[in-house]
Amino acid sequence: MPATLPLNPSSIESPVTSRVRRHFPGASNGEFGLPPELVPVLRRGQGCRVWDVDGREYLDLTMAWGAALVGHAHPRVVEAATRQAALGANFAAVNERSLELAERLCALSPCAERVRFVASGTEATMLCLRVARTATNRPKILRFEGAYHGQHPEGVAGMLRGRAGELPAVDAAGAGAAWVARDVLVAPFNDLAATEAIVERHAGEIAGIIVEPLHRCLAPKDGFLAGLRDLTRKHGIVLVFDEVVTGFRLAYGGAQEYYGVAPDLVAYGKALGGGFPIGAFAGRADLMEAVNEHRVNEPGYVWSASTAGGNPVSCAAALATLDVLGEQGVYPGLHRAGEALRERMRAVLADEPAPAQVLGDGPLAQLAFSARPVIDLQGWLAADRQKSRALMLELVRRGVFLNPMGTKLYLSLAHDEAALDAFAEHLSAALATLRERGPEV
Ligand SMILES: Cc1ncc(COP(=O)(O)O)c(C=O)c1O
Repeated sequence: MPATLPLNPSSIESPVTSRVRRHFPGASNGEFGLPPELVPVLRRGQGCRVWDVDGREYLDLTMAWGAALVGHAHPRVVEAATRQAALGANFAAVNERSLELAERLCALSPCAERVRFVASGTEATMLCLRVARTATNRPKILRFEGAYHGQHPEGVAGMLRGRAGELPAVDAAGAGAAWVARDVLVAPFNDLAATEAIVERHAGEIAGIIVEPLHRCLAPKDGFLAGLRDLTRKHGIVLVFDEVVTGFRLAYGGAQEYYGVAPDLVAYGKALGGGFPIGAFAGRADLMEAVNEHRVNEPGYVWSASTAGGNPVSCAAALATLDVLGEQGVYPGLHRAGEALRERMRAVLADEPAPAQVLGDGPLAQLAFSARPVIDLQGWLAADRQKSRALMLELVRRGVFLNPMGTKLYLSLAHDEAALDAFAEHLSAALATLRERGPEV
């Protein structure tokens, strides 16, 4: 096992840390709030492990924020991408691989009749919302508090705070667009009655409702997604599922298959690319007609063109990824691994004096120090997040690679029993350290 890094090693800052500090704001490319001295500069990954430039090995529990569901450097993905790269990396046009992938994706995704590829989840959700607005000729989007849908204004407004039933008055996440206060409505996840009330108040103005079916790590209550389906049908609102995380992860057909509810439009990303950059938005053929270039300059047209979207290398990687994920027993195995992880976490936390709970489904887990059941953002905000963060940082010090935002832990096909045992040992040791030292961050 790798040695534990010192609590405050700034006095022995390595040359590479100084270079990182000099060039990246916050010494980060978006890894939320990792202290600069703990930022590893990664060199390679294999399976469920990554190594930094100093040769330090980490057990990876973030897996490229879920993009590497099949494991780092999966040989079949590497082979497919390498073979395609030698034939040309990007034509910015429909190509053999993207056509094949479009066929596979439409066969797998319950709602997808047409698809368009982009390069990230951000683009995919953004395009769903633009299509919804244009198709309905309405201005507002309803989203759920605490959700993250990508880097565009609607993707972050109401993510960090935002009070239930109101506009996102506090732009804590820096949406950078004044119009979100007018055109983004924020509802509490898992509260169908409150959502209905907001929709009734703004009936005729709401273009789309966007929801992450498994909201971060919070499972939808029975009937919540079906209720949204009925509500959106009743009011002519486009229902958008953000399946950037859940797609190909909870089931081969994603959350739509897992929960048995199909939206009008869906956004994909992450796991589909096997680690390579990819995104896709898809859905009902009549709605997807909005991006048909033959309609440019007509009302109801939505400009959509992504230079790297549908590039054949990412599509070849995605096809190989789908081959791997389509093998017999993969999804029962991912669910078993997730349950085993959550069980181990619960067993370790049983010795903790502070109340704690483990959230998640499928190959995902999240820990909250709270006695109150966490079913929405308010429950999450009521948890002891300072302690979670201290714990996450202690895990990073011990050689577990994760995002210390208190975010999800992501498993992959490469996480075997030994990896889960190693994580449980680290968790137990990290909690013991916090008990001795206190939650110093
Ligand atoms: C639910 C959800 N939607 C959208 C995105 C944005 O995807 P990307 O980072 O590929 O732009 C993310 C990223 O974490 C996500 O978790």
